[in-house]
Amino acid sequence: MNDAPRTPLALVTGANRGIGRATAEELARRGHDVVVTYRGHADEADDAVAAIEALGRRAAALRLDIADPADIERFVRELRPGLSSTWGRDTIDVLVNNAGAGADTQLGATSAEVLDHLYATHVRGVYLLTQALATPSSDDPMLADGGSIVNLGTGLTRFVHVGRDAYAAMKGAVGVLTGYWAEQLGPRGIRVNTVAPGPVETQFSGWVGNDAVRQVFAEGTALGRSAVAADIAGVIASLVSPGSAWVTAQRIEASGGYRL
Ligand SMILES: NC(=O)c1ccc[n+]([C@@H]2O[C@H](COP(=O)([O-])OP(=O)(O)OC[C@H]3O[C@@H](n4cnc5c(N)ncnc54)[C@H](OP(=O)(O)O)[C@@H]3O)[C@@H](O)[C@H]2O)c1
Repeated sequence: MNDAPRTPLALVTGANRGIGRATAEELARRGHDVVVTYRGHADEADDAVAAIEALGRRAAALRLDIADPADIERFVRELRPGLSSTWGRDTIDVLVNNAGAGADTQLGATSAEVLDHLYATHVRGVYLLTQALATPSSDDPMLADGGSIVNLGTGLTRFVHVGRDAYAAMKGAVGVLTGYWAEQLGPRGIRVNTVAPGPVETQFSGWVGNDAVRQVFAEGTALGRSAVAADIAGVIASLVSPGSAWVTAQRIEASGGYRL
């Protein structure tokens, strides 16, 4: 009989770039195999898989549009056989609900379509995917007992940045769901937490390579610099590790002390 501990398996949504990709690589560095999802950039997802494999871990890339309920259903249907064929198992240990996109909104200038899309991406999609993986109607949930969920929140639920009101509200909802899910899934040993980044230099925030913006954020940050994706990845990877086994239902802000 082989009693060797099983390699933990993580699923990170939106892991073809940015915080998701950095998280997938950090988890691999800490001994996880990783399923990365991408929406439109299969080439970037292939790069992420290659980077994880270069770290000595196994990875697979699967397409998922979190804003589309039919695509979530397809994804979940295809995931289990995909896990079986690559890993010889049908469960995951970690779910990182990372995929997301922003939109400029403020009172007086926001359409119903923009609000609907933010909701579909950041709330409905996260809800439906987590529901499908953690609590399917069968007795056979894909998220294993003892597993961990990290939802991406935002510092914008603590401080105000004009033009982000609806996005921040959606992320506020994610924070509320985190507590409810921690309560519901706790008896199975599943922990659920929110990591709330401050401003991070990714395509999402639109200031990649912009020294002037970096400087502005650095000046507003207690630790005196602006953030890169790896700063957030380390927090997520720590939260799903055994060292955080007694942490659940928490919102952990990873902002370097932005706007204290
Ligand atoms: N960067 C920040 O300042 C910041 C701060 C706080 C919180 N966050 C949160 O952190 C998370 C990651 O953001 P990031 O900064 O890494 O952004 P990013 O570099 O733009 O990456 C976003 C990822 O999400 C994917 N995505 C977007 N919409 C999707 C959808 N409908 N279905 C599936 N995948 C989708 C993107 O895929 P495509 O390649 O197809 O677009 C991409 O892989 C997001 O939840 C964001 O709200 C970011």
